[in-house]
Amino acid sequence: MDRIRIRGGRRLKGAIPISGAKNAALPLMVASLLTSGTLRLGNLPHLADISTLATLLAELGVDISMDGDAPGGGHFGRVLALTARKIASTTAPYDLVRRMRASVLVLGPLVAREGVARVSLPGGCAIGNRPVDLHLKGLEQLGAAIDVQAGYIEARAPKAGLRGGHIVFPMVSVGATENLLMAASLARGVSVLSNAAREPEVMDLARCLIAMGAQIDGVGTDTLTVQGSETLSGATHNVIPDRIETGTYAMAAAMTGGDVELVGAEESHIESLIEKLREARVRVTPTARGLRIAHGRGRLKGIDVMTEPYPGFPTDLQAQMMAMMSVAGGAAMITESIFENRFMHVPELGRMGANINVHGASAMVRGVPSLTGAEVMATDLRASVSLVLAGLVAEGETIVNRVYHLDRGYERLEEKLAACGADIERIKG
Ligand code: UD1
Repeated sequence: MDRIRIRGGRRLKGAIPISGAKNAALPLMVASLLTSGTLRLGNLPHLADISTLATLLAELGVDISMDGDAPGGGHFGRVLALTARKIASTTAPYDLVRRMRASVLVLGPLVAREGVARVSLPGGCAIGNRPVDLHLKGLEQLGAAIDVQAGYIEARAPKAGLRGGHIVFPMVSVGATENLLMAASLARGVSVLSNAAREPEVMDLARCLIAMGAQIDGVGTDTLTVQGSETLSGATHNVIPDRIETGTYAMAAAMTGGDVELVGAEESHIESLIEKLREARVRVTPTARGLRIAHGRGRLKGIDVMTEPYPGFPTDLQAQMMAMMSVAGGAAMITESIFENRFMHVPELGRMGANINVHGASAMVRGVPSLTGAEVMATDLRASVSLVLAGLVAEGETIVNRVYHLDRGYERLEEKLAACGADIERIKG
């Protein structure tokens, strides 16, 4: 298994290109199930999760081809053409779903188009109990009959297919909003999704569906109204830049006292982060190509952060913020309000010398003058990258194990950081 070796203490200087957003790309790829036309998606990142989903979609009958690279070439901006002329199978098997929770997104589109879908329950997840009840209740509101048997969700729509309905989400869910937005686009009549997620990735999906012919009102708000269509067509769509990758490198630059331009970053998607970075004395300046992140005057300052649905501070940046606060001056209170059990990075950061105490959903971080390198590992994507950030400022050598978590969500992480002067390499093994 590959590992990452970091020797800490280098300031990051230079430019980092931001890839297409993983969490936007995944639902967009699934949207190809809604049409027999070709969906062309540009700016797709090269990631393990994208390949896993491509394997699942191919199994369901989607013909996938790489159309070539976007201008700039190299590894960036892959263009995929996805065509689901006919659905070959309506079953998403356990073996593929267990590798990636987002596979459950095929449920809505499959039942909307074929009247039936069988999707393995995603099962346990490292960041707490992540049920799919909101996805299922929403589909019931659209007229589907749901049965859970032998580890599989079976959804059936009556002969005439799904019909419009009013779905009020009791809590904000990105995945459930996306699943139901896709299903409602092919349902008969009008659907209203209230308390819908407003994350930029949800909006990107809505824009792509509109390009495919869907009638959706309220994009950008928490109430989405969908006038169902009989069929949707193919379209061409570019994936938005990854705001989580942007935030991760912004904090890497700030922690190392560096000066980095994040090329292609979208400022309007990370306003809550920018506000917090400035509060912590980081300089954030828009540039013609993206955003410049530079260390401000004096030591980073401890600040309080609470994760919330968008436009609040993203849970997917909580672990990185904690790594940054570990070396800030003063205390910081970090509260996780989206997921239970999303503090797996805490003991590992502790092994590197961080002073963190967890009380329920909050972590009190008391900044230390320096961290020390250690051999560490984490059980999820964002927790793993927080250990990389800690390694960049730690004294001595840090080895991060289980790199496959990083490969799920960060395109060429070590190359991007090394190009800015970090002493980081992948050890094949
Ligand atoms: C998506 C992101 C993930 C991010 C999360 C929150 C993708 C592929 N993943 O995950 O990176 O951390 O949004 O921003 O886009 N919940 C239920 N029942 C449900 C669904 C969700 O109780 O049916 C709960 C979850 O357990 C969690 C909360 O709702 O506590 C939010 O989860 P949700 O927004 O659905 O996250 P995902 O879509 O899985």
